[in-house]
Amino acid sequence: MRNLALAALLLATAASPALAQKVAPILTTPEARDVLTNARPAEARVTHVDLDLDVDFDSRTIGGTATLNVLAAKGAKEIVLDAVDLKIAAITDEKGNKLPHAIGPNGSALTIQLNGAKKIRIDYRSGPNASALQWLTPEQTLGKAKPFLFSQGQAINNRSWIPTQDSPGIRQTWRATVRVPEGLIAVMSARAETPAGIPVAGGKRAFRFVMDNPVPPYLIAIAAGDLKFKPIGPRSGVWSEPGMLDAAVAEFGDVEKMIDAAQALYGPYRWGRYDMLVLPPSFPYGGMENPNLTFLTPTLLTGDRSNTDVVAHELAHSWSGNLVTNATWADGWLNEGFTTYFENRIMESLYGKERAAIYSDLDYAGMVRDVKNAGGETAKSTRLHGDPGDGAGQLDYLKGSTFLRTIEYTVGRAKWDVYLKGYFDRYAFQPQTSAGFLADLRKHLIKGDKALEAKLQLDRWVFEPGIPSNAVHVKSATLAQVDAMLAAFNAGGPASAIKTEGWQTQQWKRLLDGLPRQQSAARLRELDDALGLTRSTNAYIQSAWFDLAIANRYDPIVPALEEYLTRVGRNLLVTPLYRGLKAQGDWGMPIAQRIFDKAKPGYHPVTVVAVTRILG
Ligand code: BES
Ligand code: ZN
Repeated sequence: MRNLALAALLLATAASPALAQKVAPILTTPEARDVLTNARPAEARVTHVDLDLDVDFDSRTIGGTATLNVLAAKGAKEIVLDAVDLKIAAITDEKGNKLPHAIGPNGSALTIQLNGAKKIRIDYRSGPNASALQWLTPEQTLGKAKPFLFSQGQAINNRSWIPTQDSPGIRQTWRATVRVPEGLIAVMSARAETPAGIPVAGGKRAFRFVMDNPVPPYLIAIAAGDLKFKPIGPRSGVWSEPGMLDAAVAEFGDVEKMIDAAQALYGPYRWGRYDMLVLPPSFPYGGMENPNLTFLTPTLLTGDRSNTDVVAHELAHSWSGNLVTNATWADGWLNEGFTTYFENRIMESLYGKERAAIYSDLDYAGMVRDVKNAGGETAKSTRLHGDPGDGAGQLDYLKGSTFLRTIEYTVGRAKWDVYLKGYFDRYAFQPQTSAGFLADLRKHLIKGDKALEAKLQLDRWVFEPGIPSNAVHVKSATLAQVDAMLAAFNAGGPASAIKTEGWQTQQWKRLLDGLPRQQSAARLRELDDALGLTRSTNAYIQSAWFDLAIANRYDPIVPALEEYLTRVGRNLLVTPLYRGLKAQGDWGMPIAQRIFDKAKPGYHPVTVVAVTRILG
């Protein structure tokens, strides 16, 4: 049974129909409790956030006011927000009366006495080391002329610049007015009401944004810099620094087709525009599904559209993640596993079965590898529903997508697609849990069919470690060809027999990840000479090659490795290399320390934290 507390889905606020807001339900079942928030939403929760902010590049802070609409249960006296290192100047109700508040006990719970207020106004400023924000100097940008700022909210970073209830199960509509220095453009993850901005006092330019759909607050995002826009199609376009805009438009030219394909599969795109923002290379992820404005790493720009799976992925999050959202980070697979599956279906629609099979095959192989690395079939960290942050490797993505593919193959695609489309409708703009998904699946797809229930092994997939026996392994003929060349090389054959012409990123990955970790210096040199690995400009190839070279203490790559690690800050392509260097003790640690010292000022806080954790 789903327990919808406090609210109807479309509850209009009494004041004025023009201000009518959608108030999304929260879940109050025990498995929906978010241990990473201080909020107690069943008592009092935020339903809307109105931001009025100045971006200050000198002090590297964002400050102004956040006005929150509060929905409080009868008798609730206080509301608890999440706030990390925020300097609070004042908190008042809508009439300007001061509201008593306290921070503590863990430094991130902001408790405010409501005194009957329905709206509270917080006057505040972010700290200079806000974990969501990266402030780049002009020298750290492509254009070298203007500074740049961007945010990364997922999972719990937004509490470092927005005082609200920072939990994925507490959806909020929001609006923002943001002022940046004249000459810069501000963008956010919402509808832009003033794309070019409006000049205002103090040599600044103001930008207004509106998000009418209730969203989990990790999806509020901002960027500001020397940004330009070019359209791709009627609903889509790209923002980036001027110097890479044309390359980005060319690389992501298939996005309109992707939107069409996604809608044909699982129902309407409910967000209006789908634009993309290409960030500087320090952006810590491949992509981030910020609504209306996916954030992307520039390492996708390889000129051959071979990394547009990331766009398909972030677009798919417009359903799995942004529309139906994991209620807690312990169910992150509901976002990432569903999205990886959906991404694959979009790729199949656009590029055919074989291209999709490449990704499915890589998902399966990655799942097997991650389970093995986590300690095998019984390792708790290999469960889909686990402790937040405890998941091994990429299993939310790989085991999650393989699970859904297994359901698809078991019940048949036609039936499964009808089910999944219905699922997105039933839970649109709502939080979801593993238990909630399984209950829905049983109600709408399995419908008491005992044989089917037994075949699917649902509880094993979701709550138990390891890989269930019914896991479907889709195999790719393209990758089988790579495997054959790999086997020949591993049997002592020459590197020159590996024919890489026309290869896309995924084939390179299969080859490089498939080489046994133990290689002689002579064999590594032979590979490098034949395949031009060290001088590759494809970040995926570089990362996989450096990983192998590091495992063998292969010195010749060190200068290229240093150049790479001081330029690229994408977590997934960077942290494995630091981990590899650390594993090489007296050879690797000094290299890692030296490069990290140099690279650190250019990394986003998320990457700094990740690398610091590895190097200790
Ligand atoms: N939502 C994730 C990024 C993320 C994950 C941010 C966890 C914070 C915590 C995004 O959709 C994603 O999965 N990005 C991937 C690319 C994807 C194609 C696998 C990435 O960054 O590599
Ligand atoms: Zn994702």
